[in-house]
Amino acid sequence: MLRSALLNVMIKAARKAGRALKRDFGEIEHLQVSLKGPANFVTADRRAEEMLRAELLHARPGYGFLGEESGLHEGPDKTHRWIVDPLDGTMNFLHGIPHFAISIALEREATIVAGLVYNPANDDLYTAERGKGAFLNDQRLRVAARQRLADAVVACALPHPGRGDVARARREHIVVQDKVAGLRRFGAAALDLAWVAAGRLDAYWERGLSPWDVAAGIVLVREAGGFVSDPDGGGTMLTGGGIVAGNETIHRELLTMLKEAGKG
Ligand code: IPD
Ligand code: CA
Ligand code: CA
Repeated sequence: MLRSALLNVMIKAARKAGRALKRDFGEIEHLQVSLKGPANFVTADRRAEEMLRAELLHARPGYGFLGEESGLHEGPDKTHRWIVDPLDGTMNFLHGIPHFAISIALEREATIVAGLVYNPANDDLYTAERGKGAFLNDQRLRVAARQRLADAVVACALPHPGRGDVARARREHIVVQDKVAGLRRFGAAALDLAWVAAGRLDAYWERGLSPWDVAAGIVLVREAGGFVSDPDGGGTMLTGGGIVAGNETIHRELLTMLKEAGKG
């Protein structure tokens, strides 16, 4: 498959950092049974981010960089910025659950123009460029066609009591769970969005997220023909932390249900 120079830069960086994460993950899997646990691996995400930053800035020296671990690094080119989560799904990673990913997005003048989500554990590589479609490895992606809520499988979050509005999350769960075929919590926002793009999930919503959790996934879903908004139907996903994604119908239905839960 012929890919653009930009995607090749992103893929090269993701595969390099992915190899390091996979090595650490392999050791964690063995450590699960020992009492000591994976305490030595809490810096895996920092190391992965250093690798990603070095690779991306080597290929595009002037661009800015926003990473979960190292924060914002402004570049001389104010129109371009990488937005990176070196390890999304940390809790899964540290528990030996092979559901985690590297997420890389490129923002050009406040628009996400390219996104990559890569799970090194199973080598699933999701990529999208604005106007050029979304792919899982070499396969073109399309959001699910399902139109009935009663058939829909929807992913969500289970916020920790110490974080966010737990009472609201619980109200939302009750309203949505009553109407859909199944509710799921996978624990890696970037992969939740990639799975909406791939048509595995009919929709996904979450609040309290950061730009690096969702930037790449937004372009994946849109390029697969899906809809993405904040929970009020607006466009504040990168700044407001809330996101709703799905095909046109299920996205709309989910917005209505969240509104209903908000009245409770
Ligand atoms: C987390 C995951 C998780 C979501 C959390 C995020 P991290 O990212 O995406 O699914 O529910 O809100 O913070 O900490 O594993 O990079
Ligand atoms: Ca994350
Ligand atoms: Ca992270």
